[in-house]
Amino acid sequence: MTNLAAEIEFSGIKPLHVAIIMDGNGRWANERGLPRTMGHREGAKAVSRAIESALDHEIKYLTLFGFSRENWSRSPSEVSAIMGLLRLHLMQDVDKLKNEGIAIRFIGGRDKLPADVRDLIEKSEQETANNQRLYLTLAVDYGGRQELTDAARRLAKLVLEGEKSLKDIDEFLFSQHLATYGMPDPDLIIRTSGEQRVSNFLLWQMAYSEFWFTNVHWPDFSKKTFDEAVRIFQRRERRFGS
Ligand code: FPP
Repeated sequence: MTNLAAEIEFSGIKPLHVAIIMDGNGRWANERGLPRTMGHREGAKAVSRAIESALDHEIKYLTLFGFSRENWSRSPSEVSAIMGLLRLHLMQDVDKLKNEGIAIRFIGGRDKLPADVRDLIEKSEQETANNQRLYLTLAVDYGGRQELTDAARRLAKLVLEGEKSLKDIDEFLFSQHLATYGMPDPDLIIRTSGEQRVSNFLLWQMAYSEFWFTNVHWPDFSKKTFDEAVRIFQRRERRFGS
C-alpha cells in the first residue's frame, strides 16, 4: 500500500483514548501445551507492541487491564508469575518508556502488591510524570465497582464533614473522585480472545465507548490487529446518545 493509500485508509477521527482488556494468555499457552505463565510472558511482549502501535497512531491515552481485583483468586504460582513480569518490566523498560515521552500511571489498589513492586510503580510514575507524548495507564488490582464505591465513600465523607452539600454531587464532581480523573473517557475498548464481556473494567468511563472484540489471543496481538481496530473505529458513527 502506498503512503497515500494508507492515509486514506486511516482517514476519519482517531480515538484519543484506547483501552484494552488483554485476554487469552492462558488459552494461547494451553493450545501450545505450554504452562500458563508462558502465555503471560508472551503477553508482556504484546504489551510492548500495543504501546508502539499507540505511538505510531499518535494516540494520546492507552489503558491496559493488566490484573483485575478478581485475579487474586488464581493460583499463587500464577499470581506470583504475573507480579514477577510486572517487576521485570518495571525494572527493564521504564528508562526506554521515559525516553520515548511516555507517562506511566497505575490505577487500582496498591496495598496487596508486593512492597518492591509498589516501590517500582511509584518510581516509574514519578520519573515519567512530565512526559506528554503518550499517557500509558496500567490497571493493576483494579475493579470498576470498587473504584465507584471508593468514589461514593469519598463524596459521602466530604458531605458528612460539611465540605460539600448533596446538591454539589453531579457527574463532574463524581468523575473527579475516580482513579481516572484528568483522563478523557475511552473512545475505543478492545477485548481479545473472543469473550464479549466487560469484566468490571472502567464501568463509569465506558458509558459512550465503542467496543471491538477480536478472537486473537493477547500474545498474538500485533500491530496489524491494532491497525484493524483503529480502522474499524474510524468507520463507526458515534452519536453519544443524541
Ligand atoms: C489475561 O489472560 C491476562 C491476564 C490476566 C494478565 C495479563 C498479564 C500480562 C499481559 C503480562 C504482563 C503484564 C504486565 C502488566 C506487564 P488470561 O490468563 O485471563 O487468559 P485465559 O482467559 O485464556 O485463561
